[in-house]
Amino acid sequence: MKAVIIYASRHQGNTAKVARAIAEVLNAELLTVDTAHGTVIDEYDLIGLGSGIYWGRHDEELLALVRAWPAHSNRKAFIFSTSGLAEGRIFNRYNRRLRNALTEKGFMIIGEFSCRGYETVWPFKLLGGLNKGRPNESDLAAATQFARGLRVPKAG
Ligand SMILES: Cc1cc2nc3c(=O)[nH]c(=O)nc-3n(C[C@H](O)[C@H](O)[C@H](O)COP(=O)(O)O)c2cc1C
Repeated sequence: MKAVIIYASRHQGNTAKVARAIAEVLNAELLTVDTAHGTVIDEYDLIGLGSGIYWGRHDEELLALVRAWPAHSNRKAFIFSTSGLAEGRIFNRYNRRLRNALTEKGFMIIGEFSCRGYETVWPFKLLGGLNKGRPNESDLAAATQFARGLRVPKAG
């Protein structure tokens, strides 16, 4: 299985840690979004996309990259993110825009992973930041576990 992970990690390098943990399991090529333009997506069986959450959504450049791709019928993708607050089901549905952008292009989303990441945005900066030390070892172990699940072909 040939996999690629395209990510943006602009604030603290939090998402880069998660991207590396997943890439190691999948033996995936790892590209930052700035270097991913021109990547021929058709060459990959699995595409992972992730970033920190900035003002409620994935990185704008990552979203723009996906929106500029041609339609891909049923190619497999997965999403990941790190954020100050937890990804929610009703509020803070941070993965939603990227998920929609991918499904509109015909991708099949086979997994989503989110964890908390250290942030020093105001007003948390005044308190020494939020989620210090995260993603931590247990977050990265969860990311590794998530990636192992992606390797297994889904039944049906
Ligand atoms: C400009 C900016 C906006 C952010 N907006 C949010 C947000 O809306 N919700 C949230 O939970 N975290 C938010 N965060 C925190 C980041 O999502 C968190 O620190 C993340 O782990 C950063 O990932 P990175 O280090 O890979 O860039 C924001 C951080 C920055 C710098």
